[in-house]
Amino acid sequence: MTHQHDGGAHLHSNPDQDADPAQFWDEVYREKAKRWSGNPNPQLIAEAKELAPGTALDLGCGEGADAIWLAQHGWTVTAVDVSAVALERAEAHAVDVGLPDRITWLQRNFGSWHPEAGFDLVSSQFLHSPLLPWRDFLASAAAAVAPGGALLVVGHHPDGLTPWSGHKDMKDKFFTPEDLVEALTNGPGTWRINVADSRERAVTGPDGQHATTIDSVLRATRTSGAHTS
Ligand SMILES: C[S@@+](CC[C@H](N)C(=O)[O-])C[C@H]1O[C@@H](n2cnc3c(N)ncnc32)[C@H](O)[C@@H]1O
Repeated sequence: MTHQHDGGAHLHSNPDQDADPAQFWDEVYREKAKRWSGNPNPQLIAEAKELAPGTALDLGCGEGADAIWLAQHGWTVTAVDVSAVALERAEAHAVDVGLPDRITWLQRNFGSWHPEAGFDLVSSQFLHSPLLPWRDFLASAAAAVAPGGALLVVGHHPDGLTPWSGHKDMKDKFFTPEDLVEALTNGPGTWRINVADSRERAVTGPDGQHATTIDSVLRATRTSGAHTS
């Protein structure tokens, strides 16, 4: 999995709500030469395989493994993150695997920037931040999906956090698939829910511990309703 939750001190701190997210996340990345595993997220692979490649938007792309996997599988990718440190690593990874021109990397803060509409796939994988309520980014992600396009949101289920994750303040940070469906279907546009699952996954901790985590997975198709917000 892309995530290796190792209890990094900064990642699980409780920053002041006025903190600058770019600075906060740059610090999270600087704590380690490589923050995540470098592998694409398994739920992304499972769900994107169901779709015909087109344009994809990866929100909170981190060190870029998902964007690179999508580009390798025929997608034209725009990958966005607030952290310049993460994006620098992502771009270097794309160069290493011979994909320097297939992905557009953007540094943006989802607290103030909203993507343009019209993507065939909008994916957000584990976009959990103490500075970004999940409902805000869900609305923004949904608005970027083209009619007929897909929204894929994957994150930690609040009942499936690992003992070593050290996550605090779950409110506004984690979601169930039911939470996602409710928020999406109460928002603009109409949607067909393709997948709303809680999926268990075996994970290994920083000291070799074994545990089961739960991923909340939502895949939905926009059936009508142009971008309205
Ligand atoms: C837990 S990491 C997940 C990274 C990647 N999707 C993965 O699965 O490996 C969350 C990512 O969201 C980014 N992020 C957090 N808040 C953000 C914001 N307000 N605007 C843009 N990106 C943000 C962080 O920089 C970080 O790379």
